[in-house]
Amino acid sequence: MSQLILLRLAANDGRRKKTMIRNTILVLFLLSLPLTLAAKGDANSGKEKAKVCKACHGLDGKSVDPSYPNLAGQHASYLHKALGDYRSGRRTNLIMAGFAGPLSDQDIKDLAAWYSSQEGLKDLSIK
Ligand code: HEC
Repeated sequence: MSQLILLRLAANDGRRKKTMIRNTILVLFLLSLPLTLAAKGDANSGKEKAKVCKACHGLDGKSVDPSYPNLAGQHASYLHKALGDYRSGRRTNLIMAGFAGPLSDQDIKDLAAWYSSQEGLKDLSIK
C-alpha cells in the first residue's frame, strides 16, 4: 500500500518537473521576444526618427535634391553599415557625421528598417 503511494508521488513529481521545464521554456521564449524585435529594428519608430533626415532624404527616403542619395528601398544591411560607418568616422562626410553621431544602435536599426521598407530601388522614376 505504502509502495503504491510512493509510486504515485514519484509519478506526480515527474509530471510536475515536466510542467516546470515547459513553463521555463515558455518564459525564456517570451523574454527573448523583445530582443528579437530590437535586433530587427522597428520601421514605425524609424519613421518617427527619420523626421530629422527629411530635409535632405525625404521622409520616405526619396531625396528632395539629386545631391542627396535616395534611401528608399535600399537594403537594411547597407543602410545599417553606412550609418555605423558615418558614426564611427570610418566613412567621412561632414554633414552625415553630424547626423549619424548622436544615433544609438537601436536608432540605426529602426531607420534602416524604415527606409528599406519603402518603395524605391526598383522605382526608376526617382532620381
Ligand atoms: C543636410 C542634409 C542631410 C541630412 C539632414 C541627412 N543626410 Fe544623410 N546624407 C546627406 C549627404 C550629402 C549624403 C552623401 C554623403 C557621402 O557622400 O558620403 C548622405 C548620405 C547618407 C547615407 C548613405 C547613402 C548611400 O547611398 O551610401 C545614409 C544611409 C544617410 N545619409 C542616412 C541619413 C539619416 C538616417 C539621416 C537622419 C538621421 C540623414 N541621413 C540626414 C545629407 C543629409
